[in-house]
Amino acid sequence: MFQLPLNSVTAFAVKPSPLVAFVTVIVIGVVGFYSLHFSFRSAAPLDALHSHHIFLSSSSNVTISNYLHALTVHPHLAGTKPASLTARYVLNHFTGLGFRTRTSRHPALLSYPVRSSLAAHFSDGTNVEFRLREGEEEGEEEGEVVAPYHAYSPSGKVWAAAVFVNYGREEDFRLLAAAGVQVAGCVAMARSGGGVGRGTVVEAAERHGAAAVMVFGEGDTWSKGFERGHVMRGGIGDPLSPGWGGVDGGESLGLDDSEVLKRFPKIPSMPLSAEAAERILASLGGPPLPLDWRGTLKSSNVRNVGPGPTILNFTYQGEMKVATIENVFGIIKGREESDRYVLLGNHRDAWTYGAVDPNSGTAALLDIARRYSILLRLGWTPRRTIILCSWDAEEFGMIGSTEWVEQNLLNLRSKAVAYLNVDCAVQGPGFFAGSTPQLDDLLLDVIKRVKDPDSEGTTIYQNWAAGGGRSNIQRLGRVDSDFAPFVLHAGIPSIDVYYGRDYPVYHTAFDSYNWMTEYGDPFFQRHVAVTGIWGLLALRLADDSIIPFNYLSYVDQLQVYNNTLSNLVDKRVSLHPLTTSIQEFASAAKEANNESKKLRLLENSDHFVDMKMRALNDRLMLTEKGFLDVDGLILSLFEINALIVAVVFGPPRDQESKLEFFPGIADSMSGMVKMSEKERVAAIQHEIWRVSRAIQRAASALRGDLT
Ligand SMILES: *[C@@H]1O[C@H](CO)[C@@H](O)[C@H](O)[C@H]1NC(C)=O
Ligand SMILES: *[C@@H]1O[C@H](CO)[C@@H](O)[C@H](O)[C@H]1NC(C)=O
Ligand SMILES: *[C@@H]1O[C@H](CO)[C@@H](O)[C@H](O)[C@H]1NC(C)=O
Ligand SMILES: *[C@@H]1O[C@H](CO)[C@@H](O)[C@H](O)[C@H]1NC(C)=O
Repeated sequence: MFQLPLNSVTAFAVKPSPLVAFVTVIVIGVVGFYSLHFSFRSAAPLDALHSHHIFLSSSSNVTISNYLHALTVHPHLAGTKPASLTARYVLNHFTGLGFRTRTSRHPALLSYPVRSSLAAHFSDGTNVEFRLREGEEEGEEEGEVVAPYHAYSPSGKVWAAAVFVNYGREEDFRLLAAAGVQVAGCVAMARSGGGVGRGTVVEAAERHGAAAVMVFGEGDTWSKGFERGHVMRGGIGDPLSPGWGGVDGGESLGLDDSEVLKRFPKIPSMPLSAEAAERILASLGGPPLPLDWRGTLKSSNVRNVGPGPTILNFTYQGEMKVATIENVFGIIKGREESDRYVLLGNHRDAWTYGAVDPNSGTAALLDIARRYSILLRLGWTPRRTIILCSWDAEEFGMIGSTEWVEQNLLNLRSKAVAYLNVDCAVQGPGFFAGSTPQLDDLLLDVIKRVKDPDSEGTTIYQNWAAGGGRSNIQRLGRVDSDFAPFVLHAGIPSIDVYYGRDYPVYHTAFDSYNWMTEYGDPFFQRHVAVTGIWGLLALRLADDSIIPFNYLSYVDQLQVYNNTLSNLVDKRVSLHPLTTSIQEFASAAKEANNESKKLRLLENSDHFVDMKMRALNDRLMLTEKGFLDVDGLILSLFEINALIVAVVFGPPRDQESKLEFFPGIADSMSGMVKMSEKERVAAIQHEIWRVSRAIQRAASALRGDLT
């Protein structure tokens, strides 16, 4: 019975020309028609193994490129008319494929520019008024792309000397202070990168007394680009509904509420093109550029850090507005365990055209939907429910996903198996992935089955493993995409994958379909690869009778963290609690793996085995929640958003922290928090106990035993 569909669909995979694509659309139609008849005649469903095979062989770079083109015709900034048209486009796509759909709407505080200006007054008496736009892209209507700005920057007028602050890290400000350079009262010029986010740079400049901040990218081919972005602080989500899902008619804080105010910077800031920035920097006097700042700066004309003699006249006027944002969902209901959810998510809103960020991911999501619908027509139904999520307003601080997670927290914590995120699916060559560790094995398994788009005849795994394999997997403690509320607030095992990094047109008006076809992915084969990985990950999580989590990888990761930590902490601090809890977790993980092996041998035997599998799966899902701590991070010290309650992964507030994990421990060690030696040892020890208790909670959850 599978013969016909398998062959016809396989043929689809390798033929990319538009004509053949057209023919294959017809073939698919016919297959759909046939399979409908088959399913009437025979009740035998398409099994998971066959359906996963068909999924892999039903890729098409043609459909993906069409979706991307349709999504990126106009810029679609969250809260604008074109943004709601993209929501409609995604919704219609899901509906057209026969999926159940849902839309969640949330009021959210967004921020837009009204007007801005920047003029430089050079010491020789000349004045330059800079044009604060990229210039129109081919085919762009005048002013279609939003003017460069930092969302949530306050309005302001600043007349002050320019000073160069490198990346705007604490260490950069220290170097300046050592050279006797006054940053206070000046316009700080910072280049983006250096491992610090835009919001952090503005916050640091504000702390050092700067009057305003300009953040610019590196100058090369794209030196006319302005990197838009938000500068909200203290976590994620709508500032007017911190900790709860914002809904129409629901509680909403006022704009003058202190909780709201503390999330906005006090000094105005703006992105600047590299071209304009270098012109200003090249005119500075004062002490010479420190040696190690020079190496990474593209322009050799910049020799001094200032401040002045060049004076900048910077004005910015913005407005904040409550707009309705829309998340769109496509739902495939599971057959056996419809109350267990596997979520695939990508945001849809973009600063400009968004061909890379984020619609390369949206195009992949829509193609996964297309490919799943082929399987459905062939008679497959997933064991668990699959939900395709299209988020809004990610660019303003993960607002769409965060509001939805907050609103659905209890159901998600108890019923979501995993969250699979893709933001910028394709930025260029090279595969990158991050995960919570129990998903490492599944990720490696899946990339063994997907072709490397940049190397004929090999799988992604083959080339990736050669470069370090498992150790290449990043962890998800960052707060820079929609996995953040899932991992850090809901404790849901998650994965994030993408191709390429550090692409030069990030958040500029040049992030267009043309850039993608010229530089990012000319044949859309990297898109095909991401689609294959993402879609297959979800199929495995939805269909495997025992959820494919291996907690031994978690144990390995915790051991590495323990060892890193042991080299950093004071000898008076004891790591013993950590060691004991990791050992306990290790034995729970081994038991769970043994049990899963045993149950797999008995699969399909009787109802009793099904119940046991369900019980094991529940424990596998619950374990990650052990790492949540209701106390959150040390709120009083850093005023961090209480939303973040994860203790293993998570962002330390101190950018100079040597720890990228155990955020509570990292912050208790931070020099930014003033305390005596004795107090510090006690604080670190307390945080170690907190992490140890979390690991113990996870171990008991995995074991499923009460004490
Ligand atoms: C600064 O720029 C604004 C806006 O262009 C202008 O109105 C103002 O006069 C300028 N200030 C000075 C001192 O040149
Ligand atoms: C699809 O891939 C083939 C083979 O790499 C290529 O020739 C074709 O141009 C691609 N189509 C698109 C739309 O990128
Ligand atoms: C944690 O680190 C300490 C100090 O290096 C070491 O003695 C201990 O064995 C480590 N624990 C684990 C579980 O790796
Ligand atoms: C797991 O199974 C192996 C081999 O069957 C056995 O040697 C080991 O003791 C078991 N471990 C646990 C923790 O149950």
